[in-house]
Parts: sequence; C-alpha cells; structure tokens
Amino acid sequence: MRTKIVAGNWKMNLDVDASKQLAMDISVAIQNLETNNTRIIIAPTATNLYPVFHQPSMDSRVEIAAQNMHQAKNGAFTGEISAEMIHSVGITNVILGHSERRTYFNETDAALAEKVSTALQNNLDAIFCFGEVLEERQSNNHFKVVESQLQNALFHLNDSDWRNIVLAYEPVWAIGTGETASPEQAQEMHAFIRTVIAKKFGNTIAQNVSILYGGSVKPSNAKEIFSQPDVDGGLIGGAALNTADFVALIVAIQ
Ligand code: PGA
Repeated sequence: MRTKIVAGNWKMNLDVDASKQLAMDISVAIQNLETNNTRIIIAPTATNLYPVFHQPSMDSRVEIAAQNMHQAKNGAFTGEISAEMIHSVGITNVILGHSERRTYFNETDAALAEKVSTALQNNLDAIFCFGEVLEERQSNNHFKVVESQLQNALFHLNDSDWRNIVLAYEPVWAIGTGETASPEQAQEMHAFIRTVIAKKFGNTIAQNVSILYGGSVKPSNAKEIFSQPDVDGGLIGGAALNTADFVALIVAIQ
C-alpha cells in the first residue's frame, strides 16, 4: 500500500514564534486522530527548521521538511544551505524544484538532478515538484512537459533511490491562484506519471512511489482530489498556514 502524505509548504511566511505556534497547534489538533499510513509533513522557512523541530512535546508524527537546498556539498555559495546542514539539525526531508524556485530563482532540471542526488546522499527524502504552466496545458503540451521534467531530473537515479523520493505534481496555473485542477485532470496526470516511471524503472517502483497533487488544495475540494486512485496526498500552500484547514486535509485523506 502506498503511503499517503499531507505536506504543508509554509513558503516565506511566519516568524519563529508563529512557526512554533502553528506546529504546536497542529500537534495538539491531531492528538486523538488516527493517521494510519499517513505522513504529515510541514516545511517552515530555513531559519525556523531547528526551533520548530526541537520543540518539546511536538507530536512525533509531524515531520519537518526544508523548502530548498543547494546541490553542492559546501563552499562559496553565499546565502545557500546544504543538505548536510539540513540533516545536521535533525531534518530528514527537503522539497526540491518547487515552481517558485524554478520561476524566480531559475532552477533548471539539470541543477535539480544534482539536488536530488545530493539530498539522497545526505539521507534526506526528496519531495520533487514539477508541473506545467498554463500555456503548456492550453497548447496540449502538458504531458510532454511533465515527462521531460521527470526524465531530466530523476532518470539517473538507481532503483533503490526511489524509497526516498516523493513526487509532487503541481500544475503551475493552480498554485496560489484559487484555481484547482479537476479531480479528473489530477487523476489523468498522476496515472500518466506512473506510466512514465514504470517505463524506466518498472511497475513495482511506479506503483510504490507516492504522488502528491499541489495547487489550491483546501478543505472544500480535498476529499474529491484525494479519493482519486493515483493521488496519494497533497502539497499544500495557503491552506497549510491555518491549523483548522490543514487538519481538515489530514482528516480528508483518511
Ligand atoms: P497553494 O500552494 O496550495 O497555495 O496553491 C501549493 C504549493 O505551492 O505547493
């Protein structure tokens, strides 16, 4: 059975106190919730990874992810953080290739291929994001675009690497826009992603990898999206900043 995942990407929001508070509020709210086979992940900004993770009495089911890292081991890269640094504060997940990183910080597939490898070498699980922009969907190129993003960034991996990879399909036109892919559009693309992975790495790996949907998931649409057979959870932006909404998404996936 594939692992379900509800992951909150807090982006560049919340100072240290607000981050600690939101993490604690989520912890308390899920206390009596059965979350079998569901991973719960939150991704605070880099400065808040350590204080959030090391709060006493956090629910141990709440995992922390970094939002980005550099591909190099270390060196003269002012302003960047390395996989080793993330791991050294106790964090074991990192989001890579978010569309905001690709768009505003020019992250390329080639750089992402390196980032994924560096993350895995440092015992971080990689939540790898990809997805088409609006023009690509409108010109019916979305399958081609997604296939090449996967090929360029992930096809160098070994079979065993897939144990530590989570895929997050995020159509860029649905991120932060209030616009959501329909459950049918999400399912269609997720099934396609599995066939792309199966062709290269075989059916077992394709069937075992969790594929999250991201793009304006909220309590009102989560149940329908999460109930699609190839959708294993969500990468959540806006709704992850509100305890009640985020917990409603965890409830919706059970
Ligand atoms: P959104 O963001 O839920 O606010 O659309 C999703 C994301 O950026 O991962």
